[in-house]
Amino acid sequence: MSEVATPSLRSSVSAGSSASTDSGMLWDFWYPAVRSRQIRGRALSTAMLLEVPLALGRDAQGRAFALRDSCPHRGMPLSFGHFDGITLECCYHGWQFDAHTGRCTAIPSLSADSRLKVERIFAGHFPCEERDGYVWVYMPDPAARSGPTEPVPPAPQLPTFSERYRLTHLWAELPCHVDQGIIGLMDPAHGPFVHQSWWWRSRHSIREKEKKFEPIANGFRMSAHAPSANSAPYKLLRIYGQPINTTIDFALPNMRFEQIRCGPYWFSSRATVTPIRRDLCRIDFVAAWNIFRWVPFAVPIFRAFARRFLRQDQQTMEKQAFGLAHGPNLTLIDDADRPAKWYFQLKAAHLESKRTGAPMRHPLDGPVTLRWRS
Ligand code: FES
Ligand SMILES: [Fe+2]
Repeated sequence: MSEVATPSLRSSVSAGSSASTDSGMLWDFWYPAVRSRQIRGRALSTAMLLEVPLALGRDAQGRAFALRDSCPHRGMPLSFGHFDGITLECCYHGWQFDAHTGRCTAIPSLSADSRLKVERIFAGHFPCEERDGYVWVYMPDPAARSGPTEPVPPAPQLPTFSERYRLTHLWAELPCHVDQGIIGLMDPAHGPFVHQSWWWRSRHSIREKEKKFEPIANGFRMSAHAPSANSAPYKLLRIYGQPINTTIDFALPNMRFEQIRCGPYWFSSRATVTPIRRDLCRIDFVAAWNIFRWVPFAVPIFRAFARRFLRQDQQTMEKQAFGLAHGPNLTLIDDADRPAKWYFQLKAAHLESKRTGAPMRHPLDGPVTLRWRS
């Protein structure tokens, strides 16, 4: 087993505090800003993505919008202003902005003979879409001054496989850099230690694992396989008497998709780790399924287990934050930490391709088998 120290890991998590230094967060991607239900009526909601403060709302037609929460006049947060369903008025000097384009439409202090071209003033505005119960915001690279360099791709969507299904959402804040949140998400070796419980597993259930991985666009896939025999939820699925297989994908910037298929039955989930500030991220978990739909209270039961799971991860990251605060050197090992290494390599390859304009050089050039114990 080889051990590899990773200086990139250290520098990416202990970046300086000035907003101008590289914060190790990826631009030109969609991120979930708030849950759809956090925006009600004409009220404005706030969020922060990649250290950018946002004011979010929904227009008279119900279409969501996202503006930089800062008036271009004197920096007043626009979220303190008044929104009438079309136009947002700053609370300080009453400048008005179109909610979707950010274009200034009125400056009350201008005299009749003013020649100022009001329509050339813009509040920062961002592409915004609603999917799966989240308001997603596309964060263009601020270094590319003239807006997004490439056409904005569609916002991510959770795959579902039948007309009717159940859907639930959970979230937790993690007091760490997004990189730590993401490698925590893909780490196969912490399960028996962090998620010990009678219904899931104990440290005595550790056994040898062997999984195949393959490259996918912007990420990698744990190829379709029968789920591990030592976890209880998978045992439950056996009652359907159908072959069960599961696929887990990771894709930049921050998404882990898991699908379990069992004949016509399925479970599909997505976890995203979203950078809020360089020292804070949030994990958003959404799951949809048509299995056990006949079981009463299936949703609250699932939520109770999932919440506990997420809480265990959150508490672990809270403890880890004490250690990471001192910028320690870290040691990623093969094979258990190989997905984490791929993440850093993918990120570097993505940034390099953006810098040079050349196609991204994927760190996996074909299928790979990893072995570890968990
Ligand atoms: S700060 Fe917004 S109008 Fe002056
Ligand atoms: Fe975990």
